[in-house]
Amino acid sequence: MADPSKILKANVKGEFFVDSTCIDCDVCREIAPEIFADWGGYSYVRSQPRNEAERRKAVQALICCPVGAIGFVGDNSKSLILNVINDFPILIEDDVFYCGFNSEKSYSANSYFIKNPKGNLLVDSPRFTSHLVRKFESMGGIKYIFLTHRDDVADAESFASYFNSTIIIHKDDLIGGKSADFIIEGEEPFQIEQEFLIIPTPGHTEGHCVLLYKNKFLFTGDHIWWDRDKNCLSAGKSVCWYSWEEQIKSVEKLIEFDFEWILPGHGGRMKLPKDKVKEELKKLVERMKRWR
Ligand SMILES: [Fe+2]
Repeated sequence: MADPSKILKANVKGEFFVDSTCIDCDVCREIAPEIFADWGGYSYVRSQPRNEAERRKAVQALICCPVGAIGFVGDNSKSLILNVINDFPILIEDDVFYCGFNSEKSYSANSYFIKNPKGNLLVDSPRFTSHLVRKFESMGGIKYIFLTHRDDVADAESFASYFNSTIIIHKDDLIGGKSADFIIEGEEPFQIEQEFLIIPTPGHTEGHCVLLYKNKFLFTGDHIWWDRDKNCLSAGKSVCWYSWEEQIKSVEKLIEFDFEWILPGHGGRMKLPKDKVKEELKKLVERMKRWR
C-alpha cells in the first residue's frame, strides 16, 4: 500500500496520490492519462478524477501498479477497489484482453490474454494472483504462454504449472524462461495454430519475437510501441540490449504483415488502419536509421 508519509509533492491534492516508491514504469499513465503524468523519474497525480469513469480508471491504475505506489483515501475506497478488481482482465477488442496486475519482476510489462476456441493464450505474464487465476479458469484456462523475450517472464512458470500450459519462447532468449516446452529457432515466422503467427524480431534481445493474431493484433513486447507524447510509433535504442542494426531490420520485416493493433509490453497501445500502420513502420525505420 502507498504510504502518505512518502507522498510526492507534485501530486494535486485529493483522494489519489503517488508516493516516492514509484518506479516510473508508465503503466498508470497509459491506463489513466487524465489522472497521472510524468514527473521526471516518477508518476504523479496531475488532476483528481472529475467523474466516476475517471475514478474507476484511477483505481484500475492502482491495481496494476507493480509496487503499490498509488494511494486512494477516498470514501468507500476499499469497496471500490474490490469492485474494480472484477474489471480484470479488461477487454481490448474481440477476444483480446489486457490482464493488468503488472509485475515488478518484468519491470511492469503488460501482459495480454487471448480467448480462442483452439486454446487460450497468455502473452507474457502478469502477477500470479488468485483473482486472475479464477478468471482465467472461468474463461477456459491457458493452453499456451507465449513469452516475447527473456525480460517479461514474471510469473509465467506459476501460471504454466497451475494450468498445465505450454511455454513458448525463442531459443536465444531461453535464459529468462527457466523452462520452456516449445522453443522457436531461427528467424522464420512460425505458426502455432491457424491464427497465431510468431515472428522472430531480434534486436531488443537476440531471441525477441512478436505475435501476430488474426492479422489484426500485434503483440510487440519491447520491440516497438506507441509514443503518446510524440504521437508516433517508437523503439528505444537506450533499451536495445542486443543489436540496433538487427532491430531496424526486424521493424522493416513487419511492413509486409497486416495488423491494426500495436500491443506492447511497455509504452502506449494503439489501433490504426492497416495502411496507416505500414506508413508508421516505414517512418520509424527511417528515424531508427538516423539514431544509429
Ligand atoms: Fe525487455
